[in-house]
Amino acid sequence: MTAYSASAFGVRGALLTFYEDPDQFTEQAYRYLEDGVLVIDAGKIISVGPSKELLPTLSAIPIHDYREYLITAGFIDAHCHYPQLQMIASHGKQLLDWLYDYIFPCERQFENTEHASRISEQFLAELVRQGTTSAAVFATVHPQSVEVFFEAAHRLNMRMICGKVMMDTLAPEWLRDQPEQSYFESRALIEKWHGTGRQLYAITPRFALSSSDQQLALAGTLKAEFPDCYLQTHLSENLEELAAIKQRFTQHCDYLDVYDHFGLLGSRSLFAHGIHLNDRERKRLKQTDSKLVFCPSSNLFLGSGLFNFQGLQAEDLNFAVGTDIGAGTSLSLLATLAEGYKVAQLQGQSISPLKSLYLATLGNARALGLDTKIGMLKPGHEADFVVLDLHANPLLALRQKQAGSLSERLFALMFLGGEHAIKATYVAGKCLYQKPDS
Ligand code: GUN
Ligand code: ZN
Repeated sequence: MTAYSASAFGVRGALLTFYEDPDQFTEQAYRYLEDGVLVIDAGKIISVGPSKELLPTLSAIPIHDYREYLITAGFIDAHCHYPQLQMIASHGKQLLDWLYDYIFPCERQFENTEHASRISEQFLAELVRQGTTSAAVFATVHPQSVEVFFEAAHRLNMRMICGKVMMDTLAPEWLRDQPEQSYFESRALIEKWHGTGRQLYAITPRFALSSSDQQLALAGTLKAEFPDCYLQTHLSENLEELAAIKQRFTQHCDYLDVYDHFGLLGSRSLFAHGIHLNDRERKRLKQTDSKLVFCPSSNLFLGSGLFNFQGLQAEDLNFAVGTDIGAGTSLSLLATLAEGYKVAQLQGQSISPLKSLYLATLGNARALGLDTKIGMLKPGHEADFVVLDLHANPLLALRQKQAGSLSERLFALMFLGGEHAIKATYVAGKCLYQKPDS
């Protein structure tokens, strides 16, 4: 019999984990255990199996009983902006006006460290309330906005990717940095935070329009100097943005070519949106194993356009899913994927419920190159998981009575669950959120 340490505990419930993309491997893509147990110790999953087999070996450790609930790996948000939390749901503008009128003044407040610290903590609390345990996050141009974010995430032991926005043009004077300053500030943050505990750094030029050529070149220098850091930015989101790119970068054949020229493509590069891409750009993204991030609720909210989900998948492009808070309208990956389903529908396409759940967990972990650590309920993985209530409200409970398959139940959950569907969220084996009793 396995001897467990005094800190070990078990979690019992229905367990769902993915091993592969369900669109590619219909048979072995996932495992569903109606009554299963996870054993957790020192922040890691140490065993997973059917209750019948495992429980008899677990008499010495406490078991958290979630028998009525579904447990999956914690959700991963591949693109969001924590400082925009307080500007979510701002009415009536498309990208560039929205940035000027709402976002830049909002981000200015992050020169105040205390404010940045307060919003960091609230943002992380909101994530776990929605079952999200990891995210790739933009801070602001102020290095202290990254510092306090990492401090908060490190205290909670949440695996986070974050970076200081590099932005020396386009924005108002009061929100700009200087190229060399952005290089040295980013570098200092990388040296302090990349790989500290669960924290990871992303070099973060906001988008090509808001960086001078010199700054884009320095972002490329950082990427070459720190190849295991991420790079995150925006690409081909809005038609007005595309026209401005064309006007400024006359020597480049398209938007992606600008980033390519400065050495910003690669398997750790995350490009949010990618709505209006041409054939060449798609080929080049594939060739360089760069990742697109599909942000459906943001794309609908800002009227940016429809991400060609099936077309990009057919070309075998790698992509992840993000909320893009605060242009996105929900921090919930479930709600975001429900919007993704509608975006596909508008193009005569479909996304299966299993694919959606895969994307929110293992799919995003793979896109971030973190699938050996997070995104699965598997021994050796970090114990980030979410407990879902498939009967969280009367309407969802009513709908579930008509649902036969697991797929159908997941689909109803995505559309009808809301935040009440999150029963509990565990991060590195610690329960960071428990739904209050109603
Ligand atoms: N492009 C440049 N900055 C931003 C931003 O903050 N949000 C979105 N959605 N697009 C951007
Ligand atoms: Zn964004």
